Amino acid sequence: MTGRLTVIDCDPGTDDALALWLALGSPELDVRLVTVAGGNVGLELTLANARAVVGLAGLPVPVVGGADRPLLGRYVSETRVHAANGIGGITLPEGPPAAPGVASDAIRDLLRRAGPGEATLIGLGPATNLALVFATEPALADRVREIILMTGAWGEGNITPGAEFNAASDPEALAMLLAAGLPVSLVTLDLTAQAFVTPERLAALRARGEGRCLGAACDILAAVPTSRRFGFAGFPLHDPCAVALAVRPELLAVREVAARVECGEGPGRGRTHLDRWDRWDRWDRWGAPANVRLAETLDADGFFALLGERLAALP
Ligand code: RIB
Ligand code: CA
Repeated sequence: MTGRLTVIDCDPGTDDALALWLALGSPELDVRLVTVAGGNVGLELTLANARAVVGLAGLPVPVVGGADRPLLGRYVSETRVHAANGIGGITLPEGPPAAPGVASDAIRDLLRRAGPGEATLIGLGPATNLALVFATEPALADRVREIILMTGAWGEGNITPGAEFNAASDPEALAMLLAAGLPVSLVTLDLTAQAFVTPERLAALRARGEGRCLGAACDILAAVPTSRRFGFAGFPLHDPCAVALAVRPELLAVREVAARVECGEGPGRGRTHLDRWDRWDRWDRWGAPANVRLAETLDADGFFALLGERLAALP
């Protein structure tokens, strides 16, 4: 099987770590490049974590650092969920050195060598690196088969009442991607809430094998605090859902909708407005063409079975 030419941009991040292992363990994807931004924790740590995660899988995928801050606004971390080191306080062996250069340049180089509609981009953190690619070379949009972003929400946020962390971290970057004529697919908090990690699911995952990546993934999950939004019964697993959309799209139901993100200052900054019921059409005849594919439902049991199968396939 020839996998989809894939770039993953991330901010590891406990869920980013599992998403990277899911992608690296899936033959449907040919992961050629991992790029990193500051996000859950600062860039120095997210880069070290990405190198360690890729290194533990024993695969020669280059890891390149990028933006340590958003295009505008202030950098905010999320150590309450990911702990001070970004991966739940779990220690992984140090990975290979980062590849030289800057994330956005590395992505542009890869896209220049790709054919039309050949590359899949998966964004798992603030969208800064990805936005810089198309701000500096917009014509590369035609090399993109799909850009899948774990970002946003149609319901409540998780870093402010209205905004999800990645969107709120760099709303201008997300707005640029929405305006770049790219085939955008969104995986929001409302979708990832369906990928709910419970003690039973974690136990089933751990029982799938003895490999070092599976063991580390389960140790990382065991360190994630349960979510008060869900009555402390468990927590949603965000980033692997975005990878699952590329690996096994039939696990998610997707619909085309109009999407916008708020960039101004004030309580709505980073809020994604997702018009699932064509309300903009009726509000003032303003109208708004559908510009994203929105993942709305997930086959959760199928997702966790895929995650276990692919993590168990890694060393
Ligand atoms: O809001 C969840 C998203 O923000 C995930 O990608 C998590 O890793 C953080 O980056
Ligand atoms: Ca992330």
